[in-house]
Amino acid sequence: MVDLRSDTVTRPSAGMRKAMHDAEVGDDVFGDDPTVNRLQEHAAALFGFEAALFFPTGTQSNLAALMSHCQRGEEVILGSEAHSYRYEAGGLAVLGSIQPQVVPNRPDGTLGLAEVESAIKPDDPHFPRTRLLALENTITGRVLPRKYLADAVDLAKRKKLAIHLDGARIFNAAIAQDMKVKDLCAGFDSVSSCLSKGLGAPAGTVLLGNQKFIGEARRARKILGGGMRQAGVIAAAGLYALQNNVARLREDHDNAARLAKGLRELGLEVQLNTNMVLLKISAATAVSLAAQLQRAGVLVLPRAPMRLVTHLDVDTAAIDRALAGFQAFFARSAQLG
Ligand SMILES: Cc1ncc(COP(=O)(O)O)c(C=O)c1O
Repeated sequence: MVDLRSDTVTRPSAGMRKAMHDAEVGDDVFGDDPTVNRLQEHAAALFGFEAALFFPTGTQSNLAALMSHCQRGEEVILGSEAHSYRYEAGGLAVLGSIQPQVVPNRPDGTLGLAEVESAIKPDDPHFPRTRLLALENTITGRVLPRKYLADAVDLAKRKKLAIHLDGARIFNAAIAQDMKVKDLCAGFDSVSSCLSKGLGAPAGTVLLGNQKFIGEARRARKILGGGMRQAGVIAAAGLYALQNNVARLREDHDNAARLAKGLRELGLEVQLNTNMVLLKISAATAVSLAAQLQRAGVLVLPRAPMRLVTHLDVDTAAIDRALAGFQAFFARSAQLG
């Protein structure tokens, strides 16, 4: 099967499985799993932060970050398309008692900073206290411009807000701009970065911040049930991913570009964002297209717009097989139409 549903579907490679097999382990709740500690030290240095903490998922890492920045009844400003707002089952409200103040994402994925500024509440007992601004990079594959990131960081500092980055796919942004993640994350108080998306680990996310923040996040992680024991087995996969699978993200971007080009040649409207291609079709077409593609060995989610995601288990030949499936579908619907 050619699986274009998400970059989360990758299987650990032989090298990654060997690293997992050979991992030295201990009890990470006691802080003595050497592989987890090695991963955390490696990530802290790579991202340019004092400390890092290993989480089972990005959802838990984002929530622990929000809970560490905001107390009960305090507020985070975040985008209408933000993963933490839309796709994490409302955890910030359910478990964190944090109020989300939503600002619409613009077509390029940014939040208007004037709108962010006017959403910050004055110090008045009528209002929740605004504590945090949270951004996402990449957001549905879109890379936030560097100047924008610097301006957002400046605004947060000026308004005495903390600033968090959901950098689930920050390495895609770094590769797309030929930059180091350290430079892309400069000025943020915390960053959450997934190891289980384009980097190909089976699970795991790292949260970065200063020592004090990571101490708070460790407590939040425990509350959320994320204190794992011999977690070195999965941390080994994450460490392997950081050491071996970053530079190759370029291939995913090239494959996404190949897919976008092929779809445009079929007369379709697409948007290309790093490792994601958004295909503009109707909801009804998405359902019949997904069903026909599945019969042809290509997996996609039946949603409109249809998001097609490249990753390390999809090579050029797989892209061409997928394109043949799209061509067969649209040729047939043109005949029928
Ligand atoms: C931008 C973003 N943030 C956070 C997450 C959550 O990661 P997880 O699925 O590991 O909980 C995802 C998952 O798709 C994501 O796309």
